[in-house]
Amino acid sequence: MSIVFHESSREFHLYNDSISYIIKILGNGQLGQLYFGKRIHDRESFGYYLELANRPMTALQQDFGFSLEHVRQEYPAYGTTDFRLPALEILQDNGSRLTNFTYESYRIFQGKPVLEGLPATYTEDGSEADTLELTLRDKLLNIKLVLLYSIFNGEAAVARSARFENPSGKAVHISRAMSMCLDLPDCDYDWIQFSGAWSRERQVKTRRLEQGIQAVGSTRGHSSHNHNPFIVLKRPTADEFQGDVMGFSLVYSGNFLAQAEVDTYNVTRVMMGINPFAFTWKLEPWESFQTPEAVMVYSDKGLNGMSQTFHHLYRTRLARGVWRDKTRPVLLNNWEATYFDFNEEKLVNIARAAKEDGVELFVLDDGWFGERSSDSSGLGDWYANRERLPRGIKGLSEKIEELGLKFGLWVELEMVNPDSDLYRAHPDWALHTPGRTSSQGRNQLVLDFSRKEVVDYIYDMIARILAESKVSYIKWDMNRSITECYSEAFPADRQGEIFHRYILGVYSLYERLIQNFPEILFESCASGGARFDAGMLFYAPQCWTSDDSDAVERIKIQYGTSFGYPVVSMGAHVSAVPNHQLFRFTPLETRGNVAYFGAFGYELDLQKLSAEERETVRKQIAFMKQYREVIQFGTFYRLQSPFEHNIAAWMAVSEDKKTAVVGYYKILNDVNCEFRRMKLQGLLPDVRYRVEEKNEWFYGDELMNAGLVTSDASAGQAFPGDYCTDFWSKIYVLKAES
Ligand code: DGJ
Repeated sequence: MSIVFHESSREFHLYNDSISYIIKILGNGQLGQLYFGKRIHDRESFGYYLELANRPMTALQQDFGFSLEHVRQEYPAYGTTDFRLPALEILQDNGSRLTNFTYESYRIFQGKPVLEGLPATYTEDGSEADTLELTLRDKLLNIKLVLLYSIFNGEAAVARSARFENPSGKAVHISRAMSMCLDLPDCDYDWIQFSGAWSRERQVKTRRLEQGIQAVGSTRGHSSHNHNPFIVLKRPTADEFQGDVMGFSLVYSGNFLAQAEVDTYNVTRVMMGINPFAFTWKLEPWESFQTPEAVMVYSDKGLNGMSQTFHHLYRTRLARGVWRDKTRPVLLNNWEATYFDFNEEKLVNIARAAKEDGVELFVLDDGWFGERSSDSSGLGDWYANRERLPRGIKGLSEKIEELGLKFGLWVELEMVNPDSDLYRAHPDWALHTPGRTSSQGRNQLVLDFSRKEVVDYIYDMIARILAESKVSYIKWDMNRSITECYSEAFPADRQGEIFHRYILGVYSLYERLIQNFPEILFESCASGGARFDAGMLFYAPQCWTSDDSDAVERIKIQYGTSFGYPVVSMGAHVSAVPNHQLFRFTPLETRGNVAYFGAFGYELDLQKLSAEERETVRKQIAFMKQYREVIQFGTFYRLQSPFEHNIAAWMAVSEDKKTAVVGYYKILNDVNCEFRRMKLQGLLPDVRYRVEEKNEWFYGDELMNAGLVTSDASAGQAFPGDYCTDFWSKIYVLKAES
């Protein structure tokens, strides 16, 4: 058991081989935070980390003689002696928001509880994690607060959440319920966030943590392109390979807040959870409210160490289902090949060419249903458009399978176009505020998924198609943010719940579909990467990373995404040139070399390529099939950042460390440039690796310490036929010699 309770000091120590997390029950019954970081020896008391010297101008807790303002806490409240932003707030019927949750009991048990209706990390057998459940109670309100801490035995990670229970006879309104709060003793950190917009998601933004509040969040109803529910604090001296780093990831797909408040004594309070802005939850007697889960990771091996923990944990104990441990099929998606301009014959021809080159899965994107000839109609009408697809999805999917391919289908189940049969029949099923106009995004409205009957209806429609057709893959899209958020199905004092209820509705639909169609591979998508979050990975083990399919932009997007999410979860496709988002020409080789580091596929009509290009595509697909196990399930290292250098590099190393694949990308060409080396990572130092591209072997320690020579034709005088271009790249494959 990796959780101990020291009776005399009233301290809990959660530890495994790599981390320690220490909590103390304070003299006033509230919970103090003593330590989170690298594993330290256990002892009876770490109480000396609680320093209670009084300061001028602070208000003292009566009877206890200290001020919460200067105490690092586990789940703090506002209104007594702490003036920082709190983890919780409860509005009571007398108008007060003051609470005082004090310790009542604890439970330590093996394994990790399921969070009803919410995505969360899990264990497969009890020995993989231990859980500490701390129960607190506000005696005046008779409301219970249950704090959950699960420490994974093999991972440097703690999963946290909070649950409110109401055994009192009265309803209360929760207006703030964070998933985690961590008070750190100093503020000597860089804060890293992953921000952007459509087609430039998860750009790495780093700044020094400062006194005051720094925060990112979403108010859009989904986690968003703009900010990701994942942040990092690293010591300024830490880098990709060494130093102290903490990562905080919210397993949630709706409105979120991730925040660090540094007070003027340089104490840092990190918080993460449902965004309290526009949120309230009415907690009726005998009901409970469970927050989403937050996962905290500590690494003393720099940013790569942190990412590898998230990768392993999320790949093996957040993602689920038959596809979790399987390499992903090479797919071809028709979106950028045809947009809405297709019929069955055209699709079959595209699929046939794909099959010839080795593609395994053909995906039919938007436009197959209802009166969907553009993005202005049809959403909500989940039956095949018979003009385009006379034999329906059933007929098309059978035809695709006859070609020797699997068949995949695009859906956008949360949406409705006003120009659709569904909307004409049920206009009240769209989220809208009575008496107000409804804003449209991409000509569509958002269905009220807080209502069970709406979710049930959509389930029945799509389940019918899945049951009668041969569908092996679903791309689940979501193309607009939520506005005028209001549900006619709920009373006035429950409108603050709708954003959260909406995402619970999305989760419930996913859950039903994956339970009833367990063989289907789901890929989540929201206009590209507007919902690339840990919550989605629980249902869909991969996600369309970005609508930007340009290889150069993708280096940054995939690099940024890799901080918190595994390589196998990133949908990554080769698309046509000029690229449809940037109009840039990049070599086909580079497009492949970037897309290899993900769930690989194509987003073009292969029939439009030259014979030579088709040959390249065949080689790419053969390469991916040979090395996808290493790339998708190996250990991933970021080597050099595209946010800081003209040359970016990353690599994947197989579990046995005998095979490695290095991706090396030079954005702009340079002339008569320096000789270059790249230090590799994760190899066996004493083993000889043959580097196929050089037809030579090197010891692992040579490659990791002296480096792989990566000088290209621009180092010196380049000659026609042997030169680099802009957007040049190279893959190096390393194999241990037996
Ligand atoms: C947005 C997605 O990100 C694209 O890949 C494509 O599926 C379109 N929607 C279709 O409308």
